[in-house]
Amino acid sequence: MRYFMLLVLLASSAILVDCRREVSIDCGFSGDDAYYDDRTSKIYAPDAEYIDTGANHEIDESYVTGQPVQAQNLRSFPDGVRNCYTINDVTQGDKYLIRASFLYGCYDGGQQMRHGRSLTFDLYFGVNFWQTMNITVASHLYISEIITLASSDYFSICLVKSGDGIPFISALELRQLDSELYKDVNQSVSLRLSERKSMGLDQTIRFPDDIYDRIWQPGYTSRAASYSRDVRRNSTVLTTTAELGSDDAYKVPSAIMQSAAVSSDNNTLILSLSNGDDVVMAPMFYVYLHFAELRAPKGNEKSIFQLRVPGSRPRLINISLEYLVARHIQLIDQANSDPSTFYLNLTRVPGSLPPLLNAMEAYSYVDLTKISTDQGDVDAMMMIKRLLYHTEWQGDPCVPVQFAWNETKCSFPISTPPRVTSLDLFNRGLKGDIPAAIGNLSAITYLNLSRNTFTGPIPPFLANLNSLQTLDLSGNQLDGSLIDVLCNRQANGSLRLRYLSQFSVHLPIP
Ligand SMILES: *[C@@H]1O[C@H](CO)[C@@H](O)[C@H](O)[C@H]1NC(C)=O
Ligand SMILES: *[C@@H]1O[C@H](CO)[C@@H](O)[C@H](O)[C@H]1NC(C)=O
Ligand SMILES: *[C@@H]1O[C@H](CO)[C@@H](O)[C@H](O)[C@H]1NC(C)=O
Ligand SMILES: *[C@@H]1O[C@H](CO)[C@@H](O)[C@H](O)[C@H]1NC(C)=O
Ligand SMILES: *[C@@H]1O[C@H](CO)[C@@H](O)[C@H](O)[C@H]1NC(C)=O
Ligand SMILES: *[C@@H]1O[C@H](CO)[C@@H](O)[C@H](O)[C@H]1NC(C)=O
Ligand SMILES: *[C@@H]1O[C@H](CO)[C@@H](O)[C@H](O)[C@H]1NC(C)=O
Ligand SMILES: *[C@@H]1O[C@H](CO)[C@@H](O)[C@H](O)[C@H]1NC(C)=O
Ligand SMILES: *[C@@H]1O[C@H](CO)[C@@H](O)[C@H](O)[C@H]1NC(C)=O
Ligand SMILES: *[C@@H]1O[C@H](CO)[C@@H](O)[C@H](O)[C@H]1NC(C)=O
Repeated sequence: MRYFMLLVLLASSAILVDCRREVSIDCGFSGDDAYYDDRTSKIYAPDAEYIDTGANHEIDESYVTGQPVQAQNLRSFPDGVRNCYTINDVTQGDKYLIRASFLYGCYDGGQQMRHGRSLTFDLYFGVNFWQTMNITVASHLYISEIITLASSDYFSICLVKSGDGIPFISALELRQLDSELYKDVNQSVSLRLSERKSMGLDQTIRFPDDIYDRIWQPGYTSRAASYSRDVRRNSTVLTTTAELGSDDAYKVPSAIMQSAAVSSDNNTLILSLSNGDDVVMAPMFYVYLHFAELRAPKGNEKSIFQLRVPGSRPRLINISLEYLVARHIQLIDQANSDPSTFYLNLTRVPGSLPPLLNAMEAYSYVDLTKISTDQGDVDAMMMIKRLLYHTEWQGDPCVPVQFAWNETKCSFPISTPPRVTSLDLFNRGLKGDIPAAIGNLSAITYLNLSRNTFTGPIPPFLANLNSLQTLDLSGNQLDGSLIDVLCNRQANGSLRLRYLSQFSVHLPIP
């Protein structure tokens, strides 16, 4: 149910003052005001202030039942290759969880899924590829989530056309995480969620049980044959009402930690993770296992078991638990060459209690660091830089944009590195031959070499710069004739060419 925001609700929640930044956007919601959603206990805003392109749609009525209210409408992007949401006021260096949800629901009458077609498009995080969305089931709510550090004071989340699908989005949520959580996430490492499961519960858990609003899916479903694909073979569920100690670094909700899957053959508990549409464990996997012993110790019974880890460094880890104390094991590894399914086997140690597991999270590594400029362009620019007496050229010529070099302009293709498209070396005291490195700037459209003291012939490589639209060689001491190709391009209007030597500038007009 969508309730319009009431001050009463704000007042009641204001007791828990929380400075963590969070944004909840109901994409495609055409109302003017934010509303309180009692299912998630969060206030959702319409998306108009975050984006100005795209069109709002409602999903087909037959898909509405049982879907979250945010998923009942969506924004689609039939125009333009790339459309981006911008979320401001994030703090550079802070850690955030960003979750995008997609429910197709045949909003267009099902056109895009006719004849068994799937609807694909790409999700980008700024200039960085996040993932390809492959929507194959109209009624399924697809969720993609990453944990990342903010590299600037805003996030840009872009939907990019890549297949025949018209990109769309149903909801966008941002939750700030405390920096001590998921310590593996840093400037160069972001994590993309594959699975997050509570092993002993049969319902979904999120806010307010989880203060960070992480979504924990049920790992145990009584209907399905035991554990769908998580814990296979002979496991049962154990729960307790006893409170756990409060020093849980990962702040896993207590309802989750108070339940667990336990091996029922008293020997082995097997967690299987498989590569699939939504579970890509290559090339690196990050798995977090959350444990707490829930069985009161009898006599000198211990709770120790062994975890067998596959991957590039197969190994055994002894895990020793204490009664009602949370313990977290973090595994980072490269997946095996055949990572289609791999198992994490928990095996009992003689004289000890059978192994258990309370919750698990699996992530894959995603590189959200900026793509640097095309290497060929960078090399050429570095060669040219050496010829300049005076230059402030530092680092990459094009990115980050705010530090791009003054004398260059760049293009920023969607999925390939930025290219240098313009170079202005007017009056930079250059002499001798026109540097050969310029011939390697293969995407250049504008080249201004005017008012230097270049000498020698016009080099043929200029004719190979196929994108060149403007070439200014005026005010130099070049000799020899113009290359035919350049003349032809000027004659047919595809090249704007200025070529007057210093000498000819002073010629009296006949
Ligand atoms: C999308 O998923 C379907 C069904 O799993 C598959 O046949 C298709 O190849 C996938 N498309 C892309 C672009 O990955
Ligand atoms: C991020 O962490 C990885 C692995 O822990 C490390 O190799 C890398 O140097 C770190 N990067 C930064 C920028 O701290
Ligand atoms: C597992 O251990 C429990 C308690 O020790 C015992 O009651 C049960 O029969 C054992 N189950 C199996 C399959 O060995
Ligand atoms: C499950 O446990 C029983 C004994 O409790 C054993 O006979 C059976 O082989 C186990 N099944 C699997 C798939 O391991
Ligand atoms: C793990 O426990 C086993 C059995 O108790 C023991 O033999 C082994 O040395 C332990 N390994 C480590 C790394 O502690
Ligand atoms: C872990 O369990 C799986 C499933 O039973 C089994 O195929 C695999 O061999 C086990 N791995 C190890 C290292 O024992
Ligand atoms: C770029 O140009 C601006 C304005 O002309 C100037 O203030 C700035 O110092 C220049 N920066 C560099 C790196 O050349
Ligand atoms: C131009 O590029 C080629 C191949 O990428 C390289 O071998 C050559 O050294 C470059 N020339 C200059 C002048 O940078
Ligand atoms: C080259 O740069 C000079 C100085 O900025 C400018 O006057 C001239 O018009 C430029 N040439 C072209 C073709 O744009
Ligand atoms: C102009 O001439 C050049 C060189 O002959 C040729 O490559 C180019 O295709 C021509 N462009 C147009 C628009 O005619």
